[in-house]
Amino acid sequence: MSRQKIAAGNWKMNLTLEEGRLLVEALTQSAGTPKAEVVLCPPFMHLTMVKSLLAGADGFSLGAQNCHQELKGAFTGEVSAPMLKSAGVEYVILGHSERREYFGETDALLAKKVDRVLEEGLRPIFCCGEPLPIREEGTHVAHVRAQISASLFHLSPDLFSRIVIAYEPIWAIGTGRTASPEQAQEMHSAIRSLLAEHFGAEMAGQTPILYGGSVNAGNAASLFSQPDVDGGLVGGASLKTEEFLQIVRSF
Ligand code: PGA
Repeated sequence: MSRQKIAAGNWKMNLTLEEGRLLVEALTQSAGTPKAEVVLCPPFMHLTMVKSLLAGADGFSLGAQNCHQELKGAFTGEVSAPMLKSAGVEYVILGHSERREYFGETDALLAKKVDRVLEEGLRPIFCCGEPLPIREEGTHVAHVRAQISASLFHLSPDLFSRIVIAYEPIWAIGTGRTASPEQAQEMHSAIRSLLAEHFGAEMAGQTPILYGGSVNAGNAASLFSQPDVDGGLVGGASLKTEEFLQIVRSF
């Protein structure tokens, strides 16, 4: 069975409701039937609107950008996995480097978030990636292996089979400096080997591993043509209709 291909758009904290509506309408009108699954990840407050705009749009699904590790309770300002599920969300980005850096999310906390999301039947898009000094030091593979094993290796094979991994080198996020296709392939293949060591070759072979970090219409095809790159997690370029459509067509 061939691996699932995914183009995910992470809007981050961008777009008003009206701007978001216009973007989703333009995307669904022009995308046709995409060759990859297109996952739109708007801010929480846009989720129900985007869900209704996606009704009948082939190949599109809804994702959230984060979720709290508890099911409910006195956590002012937070959103739980059951709430996301009730809004029609299917995917949840977890462990984005901005969450790790600005909100202090640790590997241990992310392991809990992964559990909650899986318990609700949603699929985590688990982000990992190294900062520039680690890349320059040459320990980037060890860094990413440690992130993945600390937050995902407690899972049963059954639960792990629902995971999507996104490799996002921090030095490439929002910087316009993309990893080269070779750099992406090197890491994706290292991640797949790690998954094979722990969960076996079959599981490793079916886990989608996305690349993120300054993906755009010009570099998407060469990144996605690498054997272990199964798609992209796209930030800035997912806010522009034509650019994102070209990325979606780059498979
Ligand atoms: P970027 O963001 O495409 O704007 O670099 C990617 C991400 O943070 O997921």
